[in-house]
Amino acid sequence: MTAILKTLQADITTLKVDAIVNAANTSLLGGGGVDGAIHRAAGPELLAACRLLGGCRTGDAKITPGFSLPARFVIHAVGPIWRGGAEHEAELLASCYRRAIEIASENGIASLAFPCISTGVYGYPIETATEVAVRTVRVTLAAHQSIHEVIFCCFSVQDLAVYQHLLGAAAPLSSDPL
Ligand code: APR
Repeated sequence: MTAILKTLQADITTLKVDAIVNAANTSLLGGGGVDGAIHRAAGPELLAACRLLGGCRTGDAKITPGFSLPARFVIHAVGPIWRGGAEHEAELLASCYRRAIEIASENGIASLAFPCISTGVYGYPIETATEVAVRTVRVTLAAHQSIHEVIFCCFSVQDLAVYQHLLGAAAPLSSDPL
């Protein structure tokens, strides 16, 4: 079954999906941005669970329960800090999306929502980050048929427009809210 790709503007902590992806840092001990929002919404048990994970390398991801979130799981991915593009940032960002889908598939997750990883504090330009995200998700989903829905959850209208432009050009896309 071909997975449905959607993009919408929302606070990812409100989405009722099997798993939401966090844009975390290597400590996995929380932060600002979407990381802070997810920890606030999930409650203190999330930090306690993250403490047991021993951190996470850039480009990799680790899974925890979602605790008080509507989502059953959180997949904590660590994106690269943008340093101009010559330090393997694209490969590391692609790896975040690939690893999150692999982990979702291993855990029986059928619906997954991504924030725009690395495009906030980590400074990755939204246009190229979006190209990496969409291309990597499309390629990786082909090998993980158990995943039925992937949502690119944009916090801003501007980011939503970038995803809609890219996805709209390639394939029909519903951006109706969940
Ligand atoms: N829902 C969805 N997206 C959100 C939310 C939210 N509640 N809050 C922020 N975002 C968006 C931002 O607008 C941006 O588009 O998430 C995207 C990623 O931005 P950051 O959260 O700043 O993450 P990132 O750029 O990957 O930097 C990660 O920031 O918060 C710290 O601990 C985190 O050190 C890590 C770094």
